[in-house]
Amino acid sequence: MADYILVLDEGTTSTRAILFASDGVLVASAQAPLEQHYPQSGWVEHDPREIWDKTLACALEVIPKAGGAASIAAIGITNQRETVVAWDRSTGEPLTNAIVWQDRRTEPFCAELREAGHEAGVQERTGLLLDPYFSGTKMRWMLDNVPDVRAAADAGTLAFGTVESWLTYKLTGGAAHITDASNASRTLLMGLEDAQFDEGLCDLFGVPLAALPGVVDMAGLLAMTDPRLLGRAIPITGLAGDQQAATIGQACLAPGQTKATYGTGAFVLTCQGRRIPRSTNRLLGTVLTQLEGQRTYAIEGSVFVAGSLVQWLRDSLGIVQVAEETEALARSIPDSGGVVIVPALSGLGAPHWQAEARGVIAGLSFSSGKAELARAALEAMAHQTHDLCAAFTKDGAPWHTLRIDGGMAANDWMAQDLADMLGITVERPGFVETTALGAAMLAACGVGMYPDLGAAAQAMRGRLVTFEPQMDADVRDARLGRWRKALSAA
Ligand code: G3P
Repeated sequence: MADYILVLDEGTTSTRAILFASDGVLVASAQAPLEQHYPQSGWVEHDPREIWDKTLACALEVIPKAGGAASIAAIGITNQRETVVAWDRSTGEPLTNAIVWQDRRTEPFCAELREAGHEAGVQERTGLLLDPYFSGTKMRWMLDNVPDVRAAADAGTLAFGTVESWLTYKLTGGAAHITDASNASRTLLMGLEDAQFDEGLCDLFGVPLAALPGVVDMAGLLAMTDPRLLGRAIPITGLAGDQQAATIGQACLAPGQTKATYGTGAFVLTCQGRRIPRSTNRLLGTVLTQLEGQRTYAIEGSVFVAGSLVQWLRDSLGIVQVAEETEALARSIPDSGGVVIVPALSGLGAPHWQAEARGVIAGLSFSSGKAELARAALEAMAHQTHDLCAAFTKDGAPWHTLRIDGGMAANDWMAQDLADMLGITVERPGFVETTALGAAMLAACGVGMYPDLGAAAQAMRGRLVTFEPQMDADVRDARLGRWRKALSAA
C-alpha cells in the first residue's frame, strides 16, 4: 500500500530526501552536501546540475527503504527560497550557476530602484523590500550579464525558477514549469493579492513574464513525476518555501502563532491569517499558505546568518570540530567576558537591511578564547532575535510564545538563552526538522490523507520541550547595551 510521503528538502548547504510515515514518524533519510561557490566577495552560487543530481540520488537511496516506489503515496518539496535557476526549455539544461539568496551582487540595481523612489510601491504590492535577497534582481542580473540567458530569452526558450520549480521541471521530465505561491511571493514579481506573476512588476525589474513559471497551490495534485525516474509516476502534492514549510510544521496556523527556524540563517514568521501584513518596521509580508486558491499570510523577519556563523567558527577559525561543541564551550564560562559578535558576514537582514554591513567581533581582551567566541556566537542568535521581536511588536504582531526549530535549535543552551533574552516561553518540538515535516503535511493533505493542515498537524506532530525565562533584567539589559554598541560598528 502506498502510505509513505517522500520529502525532498533542498536547503542551502545540503539536499535531503526524507521518508515519512503517515503519522509523521521519520522512516529513513539520505543527505548530500551542496558545494558553495563564492566567485567574488558577497557572491554565492550553486550548480543547478549538482542540486538535481544529488536530489535524484538521495531519492533513489531512500525509496527502497519504503519497499519501493509503489509504497510512496506522494512527494513534497521544500526549498531554500529566492535562489534563482535559469535553464533552457529546449534542452532542459541550466544556462548558468544558480544565484543563491545570500548573494549581494545586485545591491547597485536595488539602490538605483530605491533612489528612483520605487521601494514604497514595491513594498505595498509585494510585501518585500528592495534588497538583493529576493529573486527578481538576480534574474535581471543574469539577463544582463550571461549572454546565454539573454539569447534564450530572445529565442523564447528561457525558463526561470526557484529551486522547487527547477526540481519539479526535472522530476516531471520537463512537463511542468510551476512554482508554488509561497516561493512566488519571494521574487518581487508577484503582488501579495495576485494569483500570478505581474506584468507591471516584471517590467520594473526587466524580467520577461514568459520566462516565469505558473503559480500554483501548495497542496493538491500539482504534477506527476516522469515514470522513468523513480520507478513509477508519483504525484507531487506539496510544494513550499522552507520557512513557510517550517511554519506549517510548527502548526503556526492561527493568527499570532510564531516560529523561528535556526538553519543557515534565522527566519521568524508570525501567522497573520487572511490579513495581508503591512509592516512599517522593515519586516516582510509573505504568503504562508495557498490551498484551493485561498491564501493566508505571515509577517517575516529574515536574519541572514545563524548556523552559518557556527560553521564559520568551525571551518574558517577551527574553534570547534563539530557545531555541537559550542554548547559545552558556552556552558564552560559564566559569561562571554564582554565579547560580542555581530554576524553581518553577508550584510544585515531584518530589521536593519544593510547590504554593505560586515561582521564585527567586539570586546576582545587577552582573556578571550575559544569559549568566549563560541558563547558570543550563540548569544548573537538571541540578540538578533530580540531585535526582530521588538520590530514585530511595533508592527502589532507581538510574540506570546516562540516555537523554535532547525539544526541549531537542538542546542539547549541557546534555547534557554532565547527564552531569557526574549522574556517569553520558548517551545521546541522533539523532532526539530519541522521544515521537512511541514512539507510532508502539505503533501499528505494534497494526496488526501488528511482533510486539512490542522488535522495533519494533529496526526503528525510529536511532543514539545519548553524553556522558561530565568535571567535577571539587569543582566539582559547589559547584554543588549553591548550588542547595540557593537551593531553600530557593523
Ligand atoms: O530565504 C532563505 C531561506 O529559505 C534559506 O533557508 O534553511 O537554507 O537557511 P535555510
